[in-house]
Parts: sequence; C-alpha cells; structure tokens
Amino acid sequence: MEKENKFYITTAIDYPSGSPHIGHAYEKVLADVIARWHRLKGKEVVFCTGTDEHGQKIEKYALRDNKTPHDFVNEKTAEFLKLCKLLNISNDDFIRTTEQRHIKVALSLLEKAKQKGDIYKDKYEGFYCVDCEAFYIERDLTQGNCPVHGKKADWIEEIGYFFKMSKYAEAVLAHIEKNEDFIFPRTRRNEIINRIKEGVRDLSVSRTNFTWGIPWPGDENHVIFVWFDALINYVSAAGYPDSERFKTFWPADVHMIGKDILWFHTMVWMSILMSADIELPKSIFVHGFINLGGEKISKSSGATVDPAELVEKYSADCLRYFLLREFSFAEGGNFSEEALIRRINSDLANDLGNLVYRSLSMVEKYFQGNLPQAYALTRGSQLLVMAEALSDEVDKQMSEYNFSGSLAKIWEVINAANKFIEDTKPWVLFKEKKEEELKDFIFVLGKVIKNVGINLFPFMPETSAAINEQWGVDKINKGKPLFPRIENAD
Ligand code: ME8
Ligand code: MG
Repeated sequence: MEKENKFYITTAIDYPSGSPHIGHAYEKVLADVIARWHRLKGKEVVFCTGTDEHGQKIEKYALRDNKTPHDFVNEKTAEFLKLCKLLNISNDDFIRTTEQRHIKVALSLLEKAKQKGDIYKDKYEGFYCVDCEAFYIERDLTQGNCPVHGKKADWIEEIGYFFKMSKYAEAVLAHIEKNEDFIFPRTRRNEIINRIKEGVRDLSVSRTNFTWGIPWPGDENHVIFVWFDALINYVSAAGYPDSERFKTFWPADVHMIGKDILWFHTMVWMSILMSADIELPKSIFVHGFINLGGEKISKSSGATVDPAELVEKYSADCLRYFLLREFSFAEGGNFSEEALIRRINSDLANDLGNLVYRSLSMVEKYFQGNLPQAYALTRGSQLLVMAEALSDEVDKQMSEYNFSGSLAKIWEVINAANKFIEDTKPWVLFKEKKEEELKDFIFVLGKVIKNVGINLFPFMPETSAAINEQWGVDKINKGKPLFPRIENAD
C-alpha cells in the first residue's frame, strides 16, 4: 500500500480504574468521526484505542473493591469494550497494556533507552498525585492539592531509575516550534513551549511502593512507571518493530488526547521516541473537557454520567450528534441531559426526522412508494445544487476538524429542504393533479435526503445507514421515524 494513502489515529488509553464516563465517550467519538471521514475519502485507516491497566492508581482502586488488580482490570475493561460497541466506535484494535504484545515492546524500548545511556539510578522526591500518576511541583498545587483532582498530593522519596528526559528538551522544543501544526489546536502550543523553556527535569521511571506494573528487568523490587509503559501502546498496538502494520502506518497521523495529558504526549512521549530512534507522530490533537453542572467529572465524588446508559436511553447517534454539535472540539463544555433532549427534539426529531418521514409518506401517498424521475426540474434546482455541494462544504469544515461546523452545514440543507416543502405545498399540487410538478418535487427531495444521509456517515453511522436503506434506487422502504421525540425529561 502507498504510505501516503494511510492514516493512523489513536485515542488515549483509558484508566480502567472505574467505569467509563462521558469524557471517555467524547474522545472516542471525536476520533471515530475522523477515522470514518478518512475512510470515506478513500484512505486506509488504522484506528486504535485501549486501556492503561498498570500502576498505583489501578492497584489502589482494585484494593478498595477487594479485588486483585488482574480481576479488577478485566471487569472494568469489559465496560470500555462494551462502550466502544454501543457507540459504534470503528476502532480496528483495542490494546490493553497487560497484554504480552505490549509488555514485550515496552521492555524493548526501555532496553533501547538503557543502551543509549538514558537510564540511571538516583533518589527521587516530590509531590505525587496517584489519580494523575504524576509529580507536581509545589507551586502548581492548590493548598497542597492536585490541580486536576483537587486531592492531597503525597510527598514521596525513593531510590529509583530515571530517564534522561532533560537531554531531549531542546530537540522536542525545536520540533514543536518548527512544526506549527504538530499540536492542534495551535492555542495549546504555547503552554507546552513555555513549560519546556522553564526547564525540563529527568523523569523518574520506576516505583517500589506498589507492585502492579511491569517488573523492572534485573531489579524486580521496581516496576516500570505507568506512563513510560502506557505511552508505548501507540507503537505496540501498531506492531513495533517489524509488522506490516507498523511499517506502513507508523508514524501515527493523530494522537487524540484531552488537555490534561498534553505534557506526557509531547515532552515525555517525544523523548522516549527520540531515545529509541523511532520517528515522531505527525500531530497531537487536544480536546477540551466535558464538565457536569460546571464541575469536573469525578468518579470519587459521584459526579459522573454513564454514557452506556445514555446510549441505551437515547441511541448512539443521538449522543454522538449531541457531543459533536454542542461542543467545540477545543473547548469542550458542560454536559446536561436537558440540553441533550433539547437537541434530540429540535434538530433530530423535528428537523431531520420530520423531513425524512414526511417525505417518505409523500412518496407513498403520491407515487405508491415508487421514486419518480425528474420531469423538467421545474422547481427545487437551487436546493439540488446546495445538496450536491454539501460534501465539499463538509470536507472544508472537516479539513479543519470542525465537527460542529460540518453538522451545521448539513443542517442548513435539512432546513432548506423543510422550507422547500412548506413553500411548494405539495398537498395543493396533489389536489390540483399537477403530477409533473409533484414528480420534480419528490425527485429533488429524494436526492437531497440521500445526500444528507451520505454526509452524515462519519457523524451518525446508524442514521446514515437507515436513510440509505429507506431511499432505494427506485422504491422506498418507509419503516419507522428515525428519532422518536423525548416527551418528558426526568
Ligand atoms: O489519562 N472530558 O486516562 P484517563 C473530556 N491512562 N475528556 C476527558 C475527561 C473529561 N471530563 N476526563 C478524561 C489517562 N478525559 C491515561 C492516558 S495515554 C498513553 C494514557 C480524557 O482515563 C483524558 O484527557 O484519565 C484522556 O485523554 C482520556 O480521557 C483518558 O483519561
Ligand atoms: Mg484522568
């Protein structure tokens, strides 16, 4: 296969320290839309996601639940797998860091770092947040609490192994400065540039205060630090070093992550790759956070929404549509079920659902379910032109990864089609037996709806398939309305 025609996209791998939340669902949906859009454009895509199963955080939550870490991650990971299925995430692989195929690669990259002289033993100390699995300097804590989780950071002092990350600081900085599109959106670049300029310390990459991790080769009181293990999933999933997939698809085109782990995906991951002489990924996509009632989603405080429950209640496409339309990729925003219901009722049940259903009903009533050919295109030619230009409009938005903007373009056509029905008043044409005009009218509607269906594919795959199924070549297959209205919000 031509390398230019390939596209490799990953999401962060989630901690299965609890059940998946709406933030995890958001990230997977964003990556899925990109993967589906590239496939639609003829690219060969590999899309990977997975779970980050080692570390102190996992061990801590397993202990709390009276489970072995092994049983615990098996149970929780099953929920992440189920979520991917429920949301129609089109991932080609799902990597778990407890799998042998991953551990093997993590060990080989550690070995490479050792050979480079990048690993040494020393004492490390600092404030540590187990939920972030990260050290903080005192200045970044708020009254001793981690800025992400608001929990007390522990002071740790231990002897352990270090990775000479400082050695790569200049090269990483130069790479970020030279490649303006490496971090997307660009507004996130400065934060990292400034932080690197403030000085980069070496990274402590082993732990002795717990055991749930990859044992440190040759010094089995230590386990490998979870981030040094987890980041490597992007190459282990691709089959580093000699699988066909790796040779064809690496470097990754996009690593999709949330804003809290950008440091790990720039400074830390780039250093690991440079140390191992592996090519750098092309871009890091950073999305904003989904909050709840203005608060951070938090498993421990109970402030969480179960995306699986939302899918079961409202359908995958309704949730996907909402997440993609309501929030800007860069900013994220506040999740509320009321806002979700509002979007379903107005945009989906009313605008799209009604357009499709009443059009099908008219084909049934006026033409016994047969789709007519145009007679003389006496009307609707402007709408037809608009619908035919839709795919280019969506591509324009998608080339900047503007999901909400893409959907807005599709809805412009949907709304124009609804207006076309109101303006044409087909029931009058029918009464007056103006069959040619009715033919033209239905012909245009059919074309427009089919086009809408195709363009919806990356965003709402089930709806896209349903529209395709309903609007055959010359007959319709009416079926049920696409989106039932949600009557009472409880
Ligand atoms: O960070 N809104 O795992 P994780 C949007 N295992 N995105 C959110 C979010 C929210 N409220 N909360 C989390 C980890 N995320 C590591 C990653 S990658 C080698 C290792 C995003 O389960 C978060 O930013 O805490 C990250 O991209 C992903 O969900 C997994 O978060
Ligand atoms: Mg997190």
